[in-house]
Parts: sequence; C-alpha cells; structure tokens
Amino acid sequence: MPVIGVAKFLIIWQENRQVSYEYGRYGNPTTVVLEEKISALEGAESTVIMASGMCASVVLFMALVPAGGHLVTTTDCYRKTRIFIETFLPKMGITTTVIDPADVGALESALEQHNVSLFFTESPTNPFLRCVDIKLVSELCHKKGTLLCIDGTFATPLNQKALALGADLILHSLTKYMGGHHDVLGGCISGSIKVVSQIRTLHHVLGGTLNPNAAYLFIRGMKTLHLRVQQQNSTGMRMAKLLEAHPKVKRVYYPGLPSHPEHELAKRQMTGFGGVVSFEIDGDLHTTIKFIDSLKIPYIAASFGGCESIVDQPAILSYWDLPQSERAKYKIYDNLVRFSFGVEDFEDLKADVLQALEAI
Ligand SMILES: *Cc1c(COP(=O)(O)O)cnc(C)c1O
Ligand SMILES: *[C@@H]1O[C@H](CO)[C@@H](O)[C@H](O)[C@H]1NC(C)=O
Ligand SMILES: *[C@@H]1O[C@H](CO)[C@@H](O)[C@H](O)[C@H]1NC(C)=O
Repeated sequence: MPVIGVAKFLIIWQENRQVSYEYGRYGNPTTVVLEEKISALEGAESTVIMASGMCASVVLFMALVPAGGHLVTTTDCYRKTRIFIETFLPKMGITTTVIDPADVGALESALEQHNVSLFFTESPTNPFLRCVDIKLVSELCHKKGTLLCIDGTFATPLNQKALALGADLILHSLTKYMGGHHDVLGGCISGSIKVVSQIRTLHHVLGGTLNPNAAYLFIRGMKTLHLRVQQQNSTGMRMAKLLEAHPKVKRVYYPGLPSHPEHELAKRQMTGFGGVVSFEIDGDLHTTIKFIDSLKIPYIAASFGGCESIVDQPAILSYWDLPQSERAKYKIYDNLVRFSFGVEDFEDLKADVLQALEAI
C-alpha cells in the first residue's frame, strides 16, 4: 500500500475499506478472536461479547424492545434478569408476559394479544432446569415476527445448538462453563449479522466492554470446554440418579431424569444435561444447612460450571432478602440445594455427598 496521510486513511476507513480498532470500546484483535470462536461453536454469523452475562441481557432488551413494546419471558430465571425486567423495563413503558416454560398456549395467547418484540427465556432454566421447546416456540414466534432469544448458559454450545433449533439469538454468561475456572466474568450474544449489529451498536454506546485480558482467559478456558462438559455431563447424570434414589433427598431436578417434566424434550434437543443438579433435602432450613456444611469438596458459593464443584442453598445465598412466603412463590424452598459438579473424580464426589447425607 502506498504511504498515505492519517487524515486520508480515516476517510478510507470511514468508507469501510479498511479494518481498524480506532478505540478500545469498539473491540480489539483479541476480543474478535473470542467472538469468532463462539460464532464457530454456535454456527452463528456474528457474536458480540460483553463484560458480563447481565450486561449482555440488559443491552439485548434495550436494543430490541422499543419503548412501549412487549416482552415474553418465563417464570424460572436468573434472579437479576427478572429484577431488570420487573423494575427497569416498565420505566420505558415496556410490559411483560411471564409464562411457565412448558405453557405453549400462554405464549400463543401473548403473541395474539400483544405486538411482542422478543421472547426471552433460559433453557434449561435457573435453578430448576426447566426446558423450552426451542423448535416449536421459534415457529410460533416467527409467524408473528417476534424474535426468540435463548439464554443457553446452562446448556453450553456443546449440549444444545439453539440457533440450529430455530432461535434467532443465543446468549451465554461466559462466566460459567465457557470460562470454566471461576476467575473471569463475561457474556455473549450470537445470531445473524443483522440482529447482532443492532445490539452491537447500542453496546458501543453503553460501554460494558470486555477487556482483552479477560477475552484471553476465555479463549484459554474454552480449549478444554469439551473435556470439562463431557465430565460434567457424566457426573451430573450419575449424581442425579444417586440423589434421586437416596431416602434423605425429597426431589431432584435434572433434565436427564425421567422424572423431569421436560425429560423427553430435553433428550430431543440436548446431547447432554450438564453438571448442575438441583434437589430438595428431606428436611428444613437447618437440616439443609447441616448437609451443606458437612460437605468437604465443594465451595459454598454462587456461580457454576467451573472445574471446582460449588454448592449453594438458594434460599440463603440468592433469596435471603425475601421472606419465606415470597421465596415460596418462586419455589425457592428452604431445603433447596443447587449443586454444580466440577471435574473432580466421580468417586470422591459420590463419597462426599453420601457422607454429608449421612450426617443429617
Ligand atoms: C450467571 C447467569 C447470568 C448472569 O451472568 P453474569 O456473567 O454473572 O453477569 C445470566 N443467566 C444465567 C442463566 C446465569 O446463570
Ligand atoms: C410491532 O412492533 C414493531 C417494533 O418492534 C413495529 O415495527 C411494528 O410496526 C409493530 N406492529 C404493529 C402491528 O403494531
Ligand atoms: C456430554 O458432553 C459432550 C461435550 O464434551 C457432548 O459431546 C456429549 O454428547 C454430552 N453428552 C453425554 C451424554 O455425555
């Protein structure tokens, strides 16, 4: 290329004849590598990464739902997502219909009654691992010109290909399985160039940029994603069966179990069910605290999907600010445990869980 002045170069760049990272908020060669890696895994035209999963969902809502618009979402979901939908979106006149993940009739009537811009749902959901029939709901949404975005954090791109099933967009909290080491926060949204560009444009205004070093940690973490998820699929399934058969466990929530309400659907649209198993101890708040405090391997912490096992009692860790009766509305009972199995040896985890159950 002949030597040209900077001002002349800027005109060429403005006319999109040259790629340039003219300012860090708009991207960086390392963040682009991560975006391309995620696009390849999801089979997407385009991906935008952000500073956290919450940042990604907030920017998504603000970019795709107009003031006065309507959103459909599901009952069981990440609590901060629900808080944003309930407390902030009404300030922009945005109304919401909240449906049970399996209630296709409720989705159809919301689509009839409102001009729905977006149906946003996790699948599987947090913390009960409910599943939404992605193929079916995408067909219903598309007939009405409604976009479908799946938060696939629990599934990872390895256990579920939401875009191939018909979703317009797939969102992940990269913080969980994709990073895999509990040491970095990030989020992403993948889909067509057209829709992702709409989100990216607002993201460039709002900030919430993922720094290149964080992107590097995700790129490194993702090299072992398939190995970690394979192990977590296997441990999750074996532990779910073991817990379900145990007399001190009242109920287990895991899509790989025939007792799960969407088991047949999960088998159709997923290739594995991941490392998170939720269950209820046969006992009260204190019995459950005793179980958790008797465990020796897992950390007691929020988050999931990493190498180390993590356990939490949602009533205490995520919902303690609500009285018991309010928590019950979300089925967050005092005896609920959410266990994220890591990549430790299965026999060690099994022995630990069994001794903690014996201790109560
Ligand atoms: C953790 C999580 C989020 C939020 O992601 P952060 O990276 O923690 O901001 C959103 N959705 C689901 C399903 C999650 O588990
Ligand atoms: C529905 O909302 C979209 C914006 O999301 C708008 O473009 C369209 O005109 C609306 N349709 C009707 C029938 O109001
Ligand atoms: C588990 O995870 C791997 C990804 O590493 C996936 O390919 C596999 O099909 C999954 N399912 C089972 C049942 O292990």
